[in-house]
Amino acid sequence: MGSATLTTSDWLRLLRKRRERMYAESLDLSMPITWESAEEQQAAIAFFNAAFRAEESGLRQAHEIADEIRAWDPELADVLKLYGDEEGWHRELLTQFLGYLGGEVRPMGPTTRTFYKLYARAKRHETIVLTNLMFETIGATTYRLALRTAKSHPAVRQMLTILTRDESFHVPLNAHFLRCILQHENDVSGRSAGLRAARNDASPRLRVLYHTLTASLMASAAASRRRAKKFDHIPFRTLARAYAEHLGRLFVHADDLGFSPSRVLLASVGLTKKELREGEDVLSVDAALRSADRERVQVTAL
Ligand SMILES: [Fe+2]
Ligand SMILES: [Fe+2]
Repeated sequence: MGSATLTTSDWLRLLRKRRERMYAESLDLSMPITWESAEEQQAAIAFFNAAFRAEESGLRQAHEIADEIRAWDPELADVLKLYGDEEGWHRELLTQFLGYLGGEVRPMGPTTRTFYKLYARAKRHETIVLTNLMFETIGATTYRLALRTAKSHPAVRQMLTILTRDESFHVPLNAHFLRCILQHENDVSGRSAGLRAARNDASPRLRVLYHTLTASLMASAAASRRRAKKFDHIPFRTLARAYAEHLGRLFVHADDLGFSPSRVLLASVGLTKKELREGEDVLSVDAALRSADRERVQVTAL
C-alpha cells in the first residue's frame, strides 16, 4: 500500500462531525443574477441539472448498498448512510439553487438516462463504488475548474465552493469503500477456494470497467460542452485533459488496488504516468483530513 489509510471508525467520526454543522449551512441567494443572455442562463441550468442527477444517483446507490453491507460490516454501513445523507443535502441545495437560477429539475436527456439506467442496474458493490468514485472525481474536477472560469457571482461561487469542498472529501471516502469491498470479496472468494486471502486488488473485470469509464467520461466532456460551456467557459480540451489527469492520478499512489491508467489515453492529452506520480495523492490521509474540515477548506488552490 502506498500510504497509511483511515479506518472505517475514523471515517465514521469525521462524517458525524460534519453532520453536526451540515444542516446549519445555507445558501445566500439574496443577490439576483443578471444574465448576459438567455443562452447563458440555460447553460447554467443545464450545468446544475447535471450536478443534481449525480447527487440523486449517489444518494440512492449509497443507501441501497448500505442496507446490504450491514450484514457483514455494520460500521461501514453507517458510514455509507451518512455519506448518502451528504449527497441528499446537496440535492436539496441544488433544487433550491435551480429555482433561484430561474430553472427547475428537468427530465434527463436520452444519453444521460441510458447512462444512469445502466448504473442503477449495477448490482455488484465494487462496480457501484468504483463508478461512484470516478463520478466524484470528475465532479470535484469540474466544479474546481468552474470556480475559476464560470460566471462570477457570489451565489454561484458559494454553490460551487460547497460542491468542490464536499466532493473532494468524497473521493478518498469512496476509495475507502472500494478498498473494504474488494477486501471482503477477496476474503469470501479466497475462503471458498480454501485460501487465506489478504489481498484487496481489483478483478480484471473491474479494471476493464475503470478504463471504459475513463474513456466515456472523457467523451462526456464533449456533450457537456455543448450544453454548459456558455456558463462555465471551460474549453473541451481543458476539461478532457483534467478528467484524464485526475482519474489517472486517483490510483497511482494506491497500487494495492491494481488500477493503472492507460498510457495511450494519457498520451492523447499530453500526459505521462511520471507526471501523475509527481502530483498530490488525493487518497492520502492528509488529503482526506484537509478536505474533511468544512471550515478550513481552500478550494481555489488546485
Ligand atoms: Fe454531492
Ligand atoms: Fe459526492
